[in-house]
Amino acid sequence: MLPEPLDRDRLETALLGADSLWRRVEVVESTDSTNADVAAAARRGTDEGLVVVAEHQRAGRGRLGRRWESPPRSGIAVSVLLRPSSVGPARWPWLPLLAGLAVHDCLADVAAVEARLKWPNDVLVVGRKAAGVLVERIDTDAGPAAVIGIGLNVSVGPPELPTPWSTSLAIAGAATTDRATILVELLRRLAARYHDWIGAEGDPAAGLRAAYVAACDTLGREVRVELPDGDPLVGRAVGVDMSGRLELSVGGERRVVGAGDVVHLRSGS
Ligand code: BTN
Repeated sequence: MLPEPLDRDRLETALLGADSLWRRVEVVESTDSTNADVAAAARRGTDEGLVVVAEHQRAGRGRLGRRWESPPRSGIAVSVLLRPSSVGPARWPWLPLLAGLAVHDCLADVAAVEARLKWPNDVLVVGRKAAGVLVERIDTDAGPAAVIGIGLNVSVGPPELPTPWSTSLAIAGAATTDRATILVELLRRLAARYHDWIGAEGDPAAGLRAAYVAACDTLGREVRVELPDGDPLVGRAVGVDMSGRLELSVGGERRVVGAGDVVHLRSGS
């Protein structure tokens, strides 16, 4: 039996309000990609605060050109439109990390699941990926916008998992698999992290970097980083710099990586 559909009225009642970042919630039965829908809205001049949730995506986009796949109503596929015009572009790379942290915070609170982050923003539960984040910067006539897309596996069972290294909240024994409850908390957590970030003019030293480092499972580990172009790097993950990049020690030499796919090889000592 399919899980309950998402109820737009319930979501709007919980999320909209004079002080809220969120201005409009759309729930669509099926679409190619909520990120594509929100990007199109951004290009039409839509204000910050639009939320688009899909019960099913036909062509969900993942990081590094991958697909994000999930059976209908088995997870959360949500994208939001932000216009952080007061924050300089050099600090925008923190947005994906901030979004991963919001998922991490939400899962601890509402689902009683201890999540950890794999740099930059895969959300791991018991070492397997339960959620992913794709942030796209869109140039529009009203200035640059950010589309933050989050995919979370909620009730997906083992046979339907997209990869052998995926998991879902149901598999992890979460306290709830009610998607509306989780989505409301997720968007509240995202709004709170974004509010603080804007308040600090995007300065990661104001608390975001420390919170990210505390939630990040990559640091201290031996890792292999598959770079978008070029040979993989193998080394020890030693930090996250002020631009949100992963710092590695590779044969004693410091290397910094701004994008790539990290594989955790061994835990640190
Ligand atoms: C990843 O881990 O590769 C990122 C996955 C992001 C998936 C979400 S689902 C909602 C939004 N719409 C998309 O097309 N992608 C993101």
